[in-house]
Amino acid sequence: MSTKPKTPFPPDFLWGAATASYQIEGSPLADGAGPGIWHRFSHTPGRTSNGDSGDIACDHYHRFRDDVALMRDLGLRAYRFGIAWTRIYPEGKGRVNQAGLDFYRRLLDELHAAGIQPLVTLYHWDLPAALDDLGGWLNRDVASWFAEYATTVYRAFDDRVPMWVTLNEPWVVTDGGYLHGVLAPGHRNHFEAPIATHNLMRAHGAALAAYRAVGKNQIGTVVNLEPKYPASQSDEDLAATRRSHAYMNEQYLDPLFRGSYPDEVVKMFGEAWPKLPSSDFDSIRQPIDFLGINYYKRSVVRNDPQQVIERASHVPQPDAIRTTLDWELYPAGLTDILVWVKERYGDLPLYVTENGAAFYDPPSAVDGAVDDPLRVHYLQTHIAAVGEAIRRGVNMRGYFVWSLLDNYEWSHGYSKRFGIVHVDYATQKRTIKSSGRWYGEMIRGNGIR
Ligand code: FCB
Repeated sequence: MSTKPKTPFPPDFLWGAATASYQIEGSPLADGAGPGIWHRFSHTPGRTSNGDSGDIACDHYHRFRDDVALMRDLGLRAYRFGIAWTRIYPEGKGRVNQAGLDFYRRLLDELHAAGIQPLVTLYHWDLPAALDDLGGWLNRDVASWFAEYATTVYRAFDDRVPMWVTLNEPWVVTDGGYLHGVLAPGHRNHFEAPIATHNLMRAHGAALAAYRAVGKNQIGTVVNLEPKYPASQSDEDLAATRRSHAYMNEQYLDPLFRGSYPDEVVKMFGEAWPKLPSSDFDSIRQPIDFLGINYYKRSVVRNDPQQVIERASHVPQPDAIRTTLDWELYPAGLTDILVWVKERYGDLPLYVTENGAAFYDPPSAVDGAVDDPLRVHYLQTHIAAVGEAIRRGVNMRGYFVWSLLDNYEWSHGYSKRFGIVHVDYATQKRTIKSSGRWYGEMIRGNGIR
């Protein structure tokens, strides 16, 4: 007789799926909303694949009720989504747009009725364009603009939102938006990058302080982490791996938990690193209630003096399974990075707030079914990696798959599909993929299927 394996996941483990406002909602200017930097960026020729924009996306703005029904059918316990700052403050600050608040109130009510717990991200990359005109993340005042917006949203929704996230992936905001120019606002300037970084951290601190004044639930933040492994044991590659790790994994967590940026990062930027008032760190390092970690892949690193800042590059692994974004499937990296976070920053509650994969999995011409065995494999192996972290003593509280729906993958437009639900963009028809069915059953078994 075979005994069923015991689940490592605690009984109240939060299983969910994640999305972001600009990637799914569409109608970015509806009902008095203002343009954001992503509206601008995606409407600038040459910036996105195929010129794709979030104008329509998954039309979630009009179909949110059906989408919540879909989440219920899937058996999700939680849903992580972003509020668009541009809907609440069309000019970024000053005048509140009531219709924007009303949209999210309806969504939250619908989730409540379906018994699905919301986890709300305040900033998932779409800054109001009017604030970008004032310097955006380069203007020190952005911290108080963000706190003003956050306070309005806390006041409106704290009675129905048990968990808040200040920023999604500040590393990507700076690295993609201010250093390499591949994401909005599309700057390439290594003098700007550390300024944007520090203002993101200050904005986090200001929104956190504002929450402690008016909020009653939990607040945390979300970083994307990527463990770095050396391509060889040469001194050069080991040093490059150390730099990459400091740049990506410690740059944002060190100020949050230790009140300073890593020395390696300060050195990397050299004369571009600004003088920072030490009092800024008092607000940045206030305690958070939980940390969200987005994990997609690892990186195998070699020394590469041609690369700006990091002077390191990634070495593709020949035998690996890779997604259509060329990201290597490496589940053990998730265990490694979760264990590392606990060891370096302490035993706080952790959530995997994003994890998933883009694969090409078109609907069957015969019956329209969407079979995506590679995504099932991806989820299965990564969820097992979270289970392994729990066995190794990490305080894991939840897991969110990226993404609920196929959606607008930023500068890649609609060409990359991450959903556990397929979206036919011509008709907006949703079809649950086999990964979605698999995920629902796995949730019912709390990690065992
Ligand atoms: C993360 C983003 C998310 C999505 C995934 C694939 O970096 O937070 O919006 O684009 O990558």
